[in-house]
Amino acid sequence: MKKLLIFVCIFLFAFSGFSETLFIDPDDVKCEMSDTLYGLFFEDINCAADGGLYPEILLNRSFEYQSLLNPQRHDRYTGWRMIRIGYGDSEWELRNDNPIHANNETYLSVSVKNGAVNLMNQGFNGSAMRGDVKVFKDQKYDLSLYARSDDFEGEIVVSVTNSGAVPVTETMRIEPNDTWTKYEMTVTAERDTNGFFTIEIIGDGNVDIDMASCMPSDRTGKEWPGGGIRTDIFETLKDLNPKFLRFPGGCVAEGSHFRSNFYNWKDTVGPVETRKENANTWGGMQTYGIGFYEYFMMCEALGAYAVPVVHAGVLCQAREIKEPLLSVEETKAYAQDILDLIEFATGDATSEWGSLRAEMGHPDPFELKYIAIGNENWAAPYFTRYGILEKIVKEAYPNITTIVAAGPVAEGGLINDSWNNIRRSFSDSLVDEHYYMDSGWFLKNTNRYDRYPRTTKVFLGEFAAHEPVQGSRRPNNLYAALCEAAYLTGIERNSDLVEMCCYAPLLARDGMVDWTPNLIWFNEKDVLLTPSFHIQKMFSENAGDEVLNTGFDLENVYHVVTKTKDAIQIKIVNVSEDEKCIGIEIENGKTANAEVTELSGKRSDTNSFVKPEKVVPVSFELEFENGESKITLKPMSCTIIVVPMK
Ligand code: AHR
Repeated sequence: MKKLLIFVCIFLFAFSGFSETLFIDPDDVKCEMSDTLYGLFFEDINCAADGGLYPEILLNRSFEYQSLLNPQRHDRYTGWRMIRIGYGDSEWELRNDNPIHANNETYLSVSVKNGAVNLMNQGFNGSAMRGDVKVFKDQKYDLSLYARSDDFEGEIVVSVTNSGAVPVTETMRIEPNDTWTKYEMTVTAERDTNGFFTIEIIGDGNVDIDMASCMPSDRTGKEWPGGGIRTDIFETLKDLNPKFLRFPGGCVAEGSHFRSNFYNWKDTVGPVETRKENANTWGGMQTYGIGFYEYFMMCEALGAYAVPVVHAGVLCQAREIKEPLLSVEETKAYAQDILDLIEFATGDATSEWGSLRAEMGHPDPFELKYIAIGNENWAAPYFTRYGILEKIVKEAYPNITTIVAAGPVAEGGLINDSWNNIRRSFSDSLVDEHYYMDSGWFLKNTNRYDRYPRTTKVFLGEFAAHEPVQGSRRPNNLYAALCEAAYLTGIERNSDLVEMCCYAPLLARDGMVDWTPNLIWFNEKDVLLTPSFHIQKMFSENAGDEVLNTGFDLENVYHVVTKTKDAIQIKIVNVSEDEKCIGIEIENGKTANAEVTELSGKRSDTNSFVKPEKVVPVSFELEFENGESKITLKPMSCTIIVVPMK
């Protein structure tokens, strides 16, 4: 009889199409969930800052451009093209006597003799023949320029032009005097143009030029000293509902090869024309138009904790190091820079660094709970320096959580050694793990953190699933995103241990790529969301307060269930090519119908600027009766079911 019953059950189950039922007991709590789990990691890679979120359209606006490994004086002309018009005997040269500010040392000096000169900036991705200063019909742009002259007679006309130097905006006419003066004007584009920013100088005499600028007028934070950020990209970041923002790197924070490449936060604050540009580890320059003040402003606008990363006196170990790390004595002295940074963020407006913050426009302190010392560092020389810096920071600011790096890999001797060091000496620090692994690894390791002792908390500061390279890129396809989603179910199950996590890298400008894949792509006009972006957003929008214990075992299906005061969140990832029909039963469930968000498609699907909505989430309602329901999980899908509890 019993056998018959089992047979009938199996028969009914098979023919009803159900493969498994997910039983949920809302009182069976496994652990509390971190309330800072999902955030952002921002680094100036792939033109994420200069040429991206920082809306300066001109390349090398201040003639400071240089190459990190082989600096040459002529690099400082990068992005500019000088043309003599007609007859005349005009010359130009780079000079550094009496600059706008000692930190902004180089400017262009033009000597025009009975003739005319066009100085043309080609933008980030242009060439001498094809400008990349892109303006769009009826959009407004803020042009500005510093100039100086004690003898010039004639006309100086500034505008955006087509490649034939014909203006496509109104023109700004300037009459410089013998002190550096900023000239500015808002203009409107007559038509869409890929052109140049052109300064036409007609007449006789010498003119000095620096800090040329062209920015769209509709930017966010225009009043910030750096000049603001690109609104559409910032709104996209806001959509991710981030709980923290890690910045400014990455390798950029450590600097590479030379000590002069360490990221020095003090170079990035104050009036923008006084900031000291630095070569970017990933190529190009960092204008620091987005500097530490702007980062803190962004955190405030996002409602996210700031997670500044400072170097630990150790250059990027993953790259060739040409100069030695800071000695122990130098490290102790450098600690003051970190204390000054904390004072800049949190000191009152009468303190030395707090007063600079107040002058820049924010008299009230920013909130600062975390500071990361080092990025992707490892081994004894790093841990010695971390120990020195952490002790000094903790003595002065015991409430700040310091973050220690565990190196750049997921597995093996290096990370084991890091953890041994950390457990021995820094078990109160938050541990910054980074790994970029193939997609399959993420599926196999969803239980990674089940095994970790609960004593020391983890910050997964950089991760992404990597697919095999196609052409020159690793694609941002649906499969990689689903493997990340499956992994996040494991992270949520362990979010008593994993306090924070963020995908990397965050942003990439189409055509100017250092690294793939990336979470968000953009060009001059559009922002493109990847399947991984949609996963991050779906998870961060539906984070719970507590994780529930659930037993549910279905091949290639990963899940986690969490709850808040008035709802249950069920996240299920089906990484197979088959549909799966499952039942859901919530014990004592007084439930209303659920809201479902589903992301699905073909394994290799990607979004592109031509088809940006090939993979996008869809929403629908799912009927629940007395806590029971059933749902068909699509092949290759991530489904989030939010069940309101009455
Ligand atoms: O996210 C890109 C790079 O990956 C970061 O700069 C570095 O920390 C890691 O190696």
